[in-house]
Amino acid sequence: MCYPPVISTVVEQYVGMVMEGLRKKLVLVCGLAAISLVIQLVAYIYQSNEFQDDFKNLQNIHNFMENVLDLRRYEKNFVYRIDRADLEEMLVYIDKIESGLESVRKSPVVMKYEDDINQFQKDLAEYRQYTLIAQNGQEADLRAMRECGHKLLLFSQKVLDQNQIYISAGLHKIMIVPATVMFLFSGGLIVALMFLTIATIKQIKFVTSTTRRIAQGDFRPVSPSETGYHTYPMIIKAFNRMIKELDYRHEQIVQSRKLAAVGILASGIAHEVNNPLNNISLTAEALIEERGQMDPADEEEMLLDILSEVTRASKVVNNLLDFSRSHGKMVFEPVDVIQMLKTTLKLIRNQIMLARVTLKTDFPQGECWINGDLDSLKQIFINLCLNAIQAMPDGGLLSLSIVFHHENMVTILVKDTGYGMSPEVIEKIFVPFYTTKSTGQGTGLGLSVVYGIIKKHNGFIEVNSNVDNGTVFAVSFPFLREPEPDNEKDVENGAS
Ligand SMILES: Nc1ncnc2c1ncn2[C@@H]1O[C@H](COP(=O)(O)OP(=O)(O)OP(=O)(O)O)[C@@H](O)[C@H]1O
Ligand SMILES: [Mg+2]
Repeated sequence: MCYPPVISTVVEQYVGMVMEGLRKKLVLVCGLAAISLVIQLVAYIYQSNEFQDDFKNLQNIHNFMENVLDLRRYEKNFVYRIDRADLEEMLVYIDKIESGLESVRKSPVVMKYEDDINQFQKDLAEYRQYTLIAQNGQEADLRAMRECGHKLLLFSQKVLDQNQIYISAGLHKIMIVPATVMFLFSGGLIVALMFLTIATIKQIKFVTSTTRRIAQGDFRPVSPSETGYHTYPMIIKAFNRMIKELDYRHEQIVQSRKLAAVGILASGIAHEVNNPLNNISLTAEALIEERGQMDPADEEEMLLDILSEVTRASKVVNNLLDFSRSHGKMVFEPVDVIQMLKTTLKLIRNQIMLARVTLKTDFPQGECWINGDLDSLKQIFINLCLNAIQAMPDGGLLSLSIVFHHENMVTILVKDTGYGMSPEVIEKIFVPFYTTKSTGQGTGLGLSVVYGIIKKHNGFIEVNSNVDNGTVFAVSFPFLREPEPDNEKDVENGAS
């Protein structure tokens, strides 16, 4: 048989996987963060460069606008003074505007107004013509020139306004977009780390609760639905392999405990078998001695006595055989708790008698069914009763009763008047190999086996004990059918 890993190996394996998973996720999150920061930096540099170009364009447009304004200033002077010097200045500015037009065209805003700029070029050429015509100082020509100059001003004003809007939008973009992206990115990072932490905590909780329940003898396999999305399938498999192995080992312990109990019971049962054997031997001797001289009726009676004693002895032996017969696995079937307890008590009758313990039972009349494995159930109560008997070395009272204190649960109380237990002892009694008895007297496996069997029956066990004040063990199981309410009190003296 190949042994799967024990709990520590599984946990180590699990912790390793969790750490590895965590490391991978952290590397992924940090990698994404670094990539996103680089992208943002590149985008920022690119935007800043673009913005520098836009700013240069704005400056060009600004110069262009100033040239137009200067032109119009000289135009106004000329109209006012009709001075040729003004006209010459106007021609200088017309040239400047014309040469500046090329750089103005580069602005992405101006590009959109291709038709307008062509029109502006035409207007400028027309304006140049007017400067020549207007030299004569004719009022109509001067007015036409002024109107044409106004058109030039309107266009340059429009270009400047649009560019300013464009620049302020760009400035807004360069400030707001990185801030928003940073905000969203940091938020995303926090959320991702939060999920990572929650998932890790869930995994740790899963390992803690699963190991705890396995340690308590609950060997139900782990199902993926129970663990949620956060647990690795490999680890569920490892846990289930471990559970299978522990279950197998537990079965072996249960089996060996059963054999140990058979050993204890056999010494008591020897008494029980000895009595009928003595009777048989005595009756048979009498029959041999008085052979042929006896009344046939008496002879028949003596033979019937022998038969009844044989039946009595074989019943005792069969009881023990029934109990010791080994099952690999538990077989669950409806079991009448009352009947089960009565046959169990028959098995330990001699131990009770030898320990000078009085047995008192308080069972309801009728039947009380639970779903269980008869042999294992007997084993629970043999262990509890033997512990109780051993706790009363000078004799005492052992009481067994059945109560229904829970909805759909039946509780069997095993009470003794023995030396009891301190809270420190109570804490450890279900731990395998814990015993307060001297070497050779106890293995400390009795109650841990009891605990495991009860868990498998979906039941639970509670204990209440005080030093020198006796102990009560309460074993509860889900029941199948409620018995009749009338109680029959049954007091039996072990010594009788
Ligand atoms: N009814 C009881 N009264 C007082 N102490 C008890 C009682 N039942 C159990 N204990 C304590 O619990 C310990 C563990 O019990 P458990 O049945 O597991 O092992 P054990 O009786 O010592 O040995 P084993 O049953 O393997 O022969 C006992 O050693 C004893 O100290
Ligand atoms: Mg014991």
